[in-house]
Amino acid sequence: MEPRAEILPTTHIAHPRTAPPPTLAPHRAPRPHPVPLVETHADLGHQAGQVLVDNWRDTHTVPSDTLYPHQWSWDSAFVAFGLRHICPRRAQVELETLFDAQWADGRVPHIVFDPRVDADAYFPGPKFWQSSGAPGAPTVETSGLIQPPVHAPAAWAVHRADPEESTRRGFLERLYPRLAAWHRYLATDRDLGGRGLAAIVHPWESGMDNSPAWDLPLSRVEPLPGHSFVRRDLHHAAPADRPTDADYGRYLKLATRYRDHGYRDADTPHEFAVEDPCTNALLVAAELAMARIAEEIGADPTPHHDTAARIAGALVRLLFDPAMGAFVPRDALTGERIASVTVGGVIPLIVPGLPEEITEAVVDTLCGPWFRLTDAHMVPSYRLTAPDYSPRRYWRGPAWYNTAWLVREGLLTHGYDNLAQALRASMLETAASGGFREYVDPWNGRGRGSGRFSWTASLVLDLLRDPSGKLAGG
Ligand code: SER
Repeated sequence: MEPRAEILPTTHIAHPRTAPPPTLAPHRAPRPHPVPLVETHADLGHQAGQVLVDNWRDTHTVPSDTLYPHQWSWDSAFVAFGLRHICPRRAQVELETLFDAQWADGRVPHIVFDPRVDADAYFPGPKFWQSSGAPGAPTVETSGLIQPPVHAPAAWAVHRADPEESTRRGFLERLYPRLAAWHRYLATDRDLGGRGLAAIVHPWESGMDNSPAWDLPLSRVEPLPGHSFVRRDLHHAAPADRPTDADYGRYLKLATRYRDHGYRDADTPHEFAVEDPCTNALLVAAELAMARIAEEIGADPTPHHDTAARIAGALVRLLFDPAMGAFVPRDALTGERIASVTVGGVIPLIVPGLPEEITEAVVDTLCGPWFRLTDAHMVPSYRLTAPDYSPRRYWRGPAWYNTAWLVREGLLTHGYDNLAQALRASMLETAASGGFREYVDPWNGRGRGSGRFSWTASLVLDLLRDPSGKLAGG
C-alpha cells in the first residue's frame, strides 16, 4: 500500500509535484555548480564511513570523540541513517541501546551516559542529572530531558537496509512498542499547552540549544551565576563557536528545577515550555513511519495516521505564520506566538499534504534573503539578515548538516526536486572541503565546532548511498 500523503483534511491536500512548478521565481533555480558533482570525490564516502567506525563505542556512536563522549538521542537517530549503509546490524544496535535507556513514562533521554567514560569528561554529567534517583528512570545514568523524535523514521530506514536481518532479529517487533510509548509521552505528558502539540521544557530539548527562537521565553529565567559551574565544552571548541555563559546559567537553572521535581512534567512549575515547530513536524513524520512499521509487523496503522493528521492540523493551525512565510514556536505558558523564524521554522516542510500556499511560502522563504538556499552553504540556522545573526555561534547562524538533510527531505516531499538536488550538492561539496565538521559558516563554508562529527559523516554517507526521500514513510 502506498503511504497516505493526505494526512490533513481533504480541503488541505496539496497535489504532489514531480518537478518544480513552471512559475518558479528566478531565485528558485538551483545554483550552478562550478565543480563536477561530488560523486567524483571518490574518497568522501570512505572517509565518512571511517568517522562512523572510529566513533563507535561497542553499543553506540559518540557524536564527537571530544566534545560529546556519550550517546545523544537525536544524534543516534541521524547516525543510524548512515550506519545502515555500512553495517545494518550496528545501526539496529545503536537504536536499541538508546531505547534500553527509555524511562517508564516513555521518554527517551537526550543523553545516555557511558559508565566507562570519566564522570567529569562532560558537563553536565551524571552527577548533575541524578537520574537514578528519579521515579521510572532506567538503571543506566541518563539526563532527564529529551530531544526531537527522529527515531521511528530511522528505525524504518534501518529495517529497509537489510529486511532479512532485521526480521531475523525481531528488530521492528521489539522497537515498535517502545517507539509507541515514546510518541505517547510526547503527545500526552508533553501537551502542556493542551492544544495537541508537544512542548519542550528546555532549549536543549529542541536540539538547537541557543537558537534565537528561545531568547524571549528564556529571558524570564534568572540564570545561575557563572561561578557555580565549570563548563567542559570550552576545552574542546572555541568559545565564540559555543553558547555563552549567560545561556549556560539559564540552561542549568531550568534543568535543576526539573530535576528537583523528579522530572515529573505535571508537578514541575515550568519556567520554559514551548511548542517547537521542528519537534512537532518530526513527530508527524515519525507517526507516519510508525504506520509503515505497524503494517510491516501486522499491527494496525490507523491510529498512527490519525495521530499524524491531528498533530499536522494543529501545527498548521497554530504555528504557521503567513506574514513570516514560515512556522514559528509558540510559548505554551503564555499562549503567544514567538515571532522568530529560524531553520526550525522551515523544517515542517517534511510534513506531507501541507496546503499548497504554505508549501510555496516556506520554499520562497528558504530561497529568499533570509536563508538564500541557492547560494549559501546549506541552510543557515538563523536568518542571514537578522541583526543578531552570528556566522559561528552554534545555532545562531551556522549551517548544520542534519537540518539541511531535513530541509532536503521536505523539498523532496513536495516535489521540489531541483532544489533538493542543489542542496544535496551543496552539502557534499561543503563536507568534501574538509573534516566532517559539526557546523559551518553559511557564507564561506568554513568549519566550526567539533571535527569528525558523527551525524555529519552519517548524513553525507546517506546522501551518497541513498539520495531518495525517506522521511514520512518513504
Ligand atoms: N547540545 C548540548 C551540549 O552542547 C547538550 O545536549 O552539550
